Amino acid sequence: MTGEKKTETPDQKYKKSREKWDKLQFDTQQGRAGEDPYPTASGSLRIPLYSTKSYAYSSLSELLENHYSYSRTENPNLYALDQKLSTLHGGESAVSVASGMAAVHLACSSILQKRVERIRPKKINALLPQNNPEDIPNIIIHTNQYTGVYRLFTNIYSQLGYMTKVVDMRDLSQLKNAIDEDTKLIFLETPSNPNLDILDIQQCAALIHEVGGKCIVDNTFASPALQKPLSWGADLVVESLTKFVNGHGDTLGGAIIGPKNELLNIRYFWLETQGAVMHPFSAWLILRGCRTLSLRMERHCTNAMKLAQYLEDHPKVSRVIYPGLKSHPNHELAKKQMSSFGGMIGFELRSVDECNKFIDLLKLIKVGVSLGDTTSLIEYTSVMTGIDLASWEKRRMNLSNTHFRFSVGLEDPQDLIKDLEQALNKI
Ligand SMILES: Cc1ncc(COP(=O)(O)O)c(C=O)c1O
Repeated sequence: MTGEKKTETPDQKYKKSREKWDKLQFDTQQGRAGEDPYPTASGSLRIPLYSTKSYAYSSLSELLENHYSYSRTENPNLYALDQKLSTLHGGESAVSVASGMAAVHLACSSILQKRVERIRPKKINALLPQNNPEDIPNIIIHTNQYTGVYRLFTNIYSQLGYMTKVVDMRDLSQLKNAIDEDTKLIFLETPSNPNLDILDIQQCAALIHEVGGKCIVDNTFASPALQKPLSWGADLVVESLTKFVNGHGDTLGGAIIGPKNELLNIRYFWLETQGAVMHPFSAWLILRGCRTLSLRMERHCTNAMKLAQYLEDHPKVSRVIYPGLKSHPNHELAKKQMSSFGGMIGFELRSVDECNKFIDLLKLIKVGVSLGDTTSLIEYTSVMTGIDLASWEKRRMNLSNTHFRFSVGLEDPQDLIKDLEQALNKI
């Protein structure tokens, strides 16, 4: 190959185009970043679907020079999505993975566990946290968060030797008291699922940085259109792309966004080894979803505000939780760190009996788990997402048994209000 002009790697091409995207506004970035130009040559306006497991070359030197080798770590569709997400978050780098849960697990693995390339079996014991009783690392999570993530920390990571402390991070003094020199990580979801607690990313990150630990923020409820945790001091951001970022409810996905070196470690060590890979077609769908993210979020937010106000005035609704309402205890903080208040509402009715009647009376609004879709979805929280929790855990999560989590879709708000009205009238 000597004397021949080397082709630019996708990374080199990306570096050049990133400078261009960074000068543009969010609405332009969401449609163009990562896709213009996209990482392989073709005149097609849209990126074709690269459904391939490996990339074959005519010589070893060509293979060694090329970025793409095997789709567990590299794929042009995923690569374009990674570039778009890192641009939208203002991060150096991103890795898209199979689901939001995979993103959380890979991000935490990279921070909590040592990267060991080769290890002799006898030495493994010395690495296990439980064999170092003087130095039991701990993780701090907020009292209220998505139950799948809660289970990962309190069940799985505890078996790996990490102690998980559950703390109400809305009260910064509680967080400060819980942090010690063995705290490796604080994990916060804001707004939290399902209670819509708002946590102060800047203050929480500053506290954990004092002891050299890291802060991961799950940004799923806000999406980068409403909140950019890296700009408030978070070390890594995770997103369940399944929700608002894709927004069309037709696939699952997750992403981790943050500094380049951490993301290289996640891609080439953790993802490569754990294998929670996103299918290229999912990346293709999510790229399409991203192109309208801010437009959809704007409508989710205005619809949610109208419905929250309607519910707040209704005599049969005992409580409404929406960060955009002045009655929300963290309304001022939400105003500070989010550009708008999101498409999720929580509300409570007066009794379990009324809740059971109400949910079956809805006609337009669908009953279902998950969120962030064009279609409005409601869940009766304690018997759906919260079904696995023991009653003491529900109490610690502040999860009431009359709570509904409402993912407000993109339908006409008057139609949604009419549906709520006819159901509330009959209970
Ligand atoms: C806040 C939050 N984080 C992570 C997840 C997990 O995402 P996924 O379903 O894509 O694995 C969810 C799922 O509901 C969630 O609500």
